[in-house]
Amino acid sequence: MTRSFPAGAQSSSGSSSSSDSPLPPVRQPLSSGPGRAVVTGGAGFIGSHLVELLLQGDYSVHVVDDLSTGKLANLAAVKDHPRLTVTIASVADADVAQRTVADADIVFHLAGVVGVRRLAEEPLAVMQANLHSTESMLRACSLKGVAVLVTSSSEVYGDGPVPFVEGSPVRPGSTEGLRGGYACAKAMGEWLASAYAEQNKLPVVVARLFNTVGPRQTGDHGMVLPRFVQQALRGEPMTVYGGGQQTRCFAHVRDVARALLGLATSATVPGRVVNVGSAMETPVRTLAEMVRDAADSSSSIRNVPFGDVFPEGFVDPPRRVPSLERLLAANGWLPQTPLDAIVAELVELARSCAVRSETRLEVEAESGALRS
Ligand SMILES: NC(=O)c1ccc[n+]([C@@H]2O[C@H](COP(=O)([O-])OP(=O)(O)OC[C@H]3O[C@@H](n4cnc5c(N)ncnc54)[C@H](O)[C@@H]3O)[C@@H](O)[C@H]2O)c1
Repeated sequence: MTRSFPAGAQSSSGSSSSSDSPLPPVRQPLSSGPGRAVVTGGAGFIGSHLVELLLQGDYSVHVVDDLSTGKLANLAAVKDHPRLTVTIASVADADVAQRTVADADIVFHLAGVVGVRRLAEEPLAVMQANLHSTESMLRACSLKGVAVLVTSSSEVYGDGPVPFVEGSPVRPGSTEGLRGGYACAKAMGEWLASAYAEQNKLPVVVARLFNTVGPRQTGDHGMVLPRFVQQALRGEPMTVYGGGQQTRCFAHVRDVARALLGLATSATVPGRVVNVGSAMETPVRTLAEMVRDAADSSSSIRNVPFGDVFPEGFVDPPRRVPSLERLLAANGWLPQTPLDAIVAELVELARSCAVRSETRLEVEAESGALRS
């Protein structure tokens, strides 16, 4: 069955920030429309939503994922789709990368390991996964001349001045601290993308993603919103790391997926690097209160010193706000799902999952499946 895209561009209602410097020369679109798309990391949180969107838009989609942090269950809604193929492999492997891009028209490179908690626990795995997979995919795309959208992270801005403008210097931080390792791996991926573009004429766009939230994100590795939802629904204390006045801008994952596809097919993309996210700023403490209200929970909200959770030297930038001028210029709209709607959706989803799993346990207990 084929379906067409949701109705075209909406007008913007999000805020955008101004930059002093003129935009770099306009770049051409990566892709002219439906064709064969590869999504690395397609079994992950953002990747799985992008896969669904591409399938709705008549693309044939090849997911390549090593399932290191993703899971096939994320693709449950489309698993039998005739235009979807899934390969379980690591794109850090040069052979895999080259086979992956062999017949692709456009590549969305999302494979990576994300999450500050993971970075604190396994810094080598996080840095290597991000750096090696990006290098391998860029090389493969360059050899075949296949256009590629690479996902990077707002972490590259470090504690720089807000709003974060794409052309400003990256500030990954000290090499004696850990947090900068993820930022540096992502920034190195961006520099490699630029080098392949300049030297080998590879068509490439880098999407710098800001905090993305929505269904299928787990709280297991320090992601703040799913963790708050779990704590509130269980009536446990909601743990805010640090003072809670630090702000973040949260975009719905479906908006982000749509923005990535828009960037790949936009008639003109101003610049090679484009911030992707929301510019609506929310203090983390306020987020906890929103979740508690939406869940109608009696949980307390407890501040936990940052040093109790993360290694020494792990700093948390006080604000992280994107300039969205380039994204608006490319796509004609901005991610705009309000945070209270996102919170309400996630609380509802978590509640219905909890009910489903309780019902399943009751049925299994009644049928004797749980008796030893
Ligand atoms: N979620 C966010 O808020 C956020 C913010 C900034 C940047 N990003 C970037 O967006 C991308 C997607 O993030 P996500 O939140 O969906 O994370 P995720 O962990 O849910 O998805 C990443 C996917 O990549 C896969 N993967 C990892 N290494 C691989 C490899 N070598 N080969 C093949 N597959 C591999 C994982 O199994 C997983 O399915 C990442 O590159 C991440 O750095 C995400």
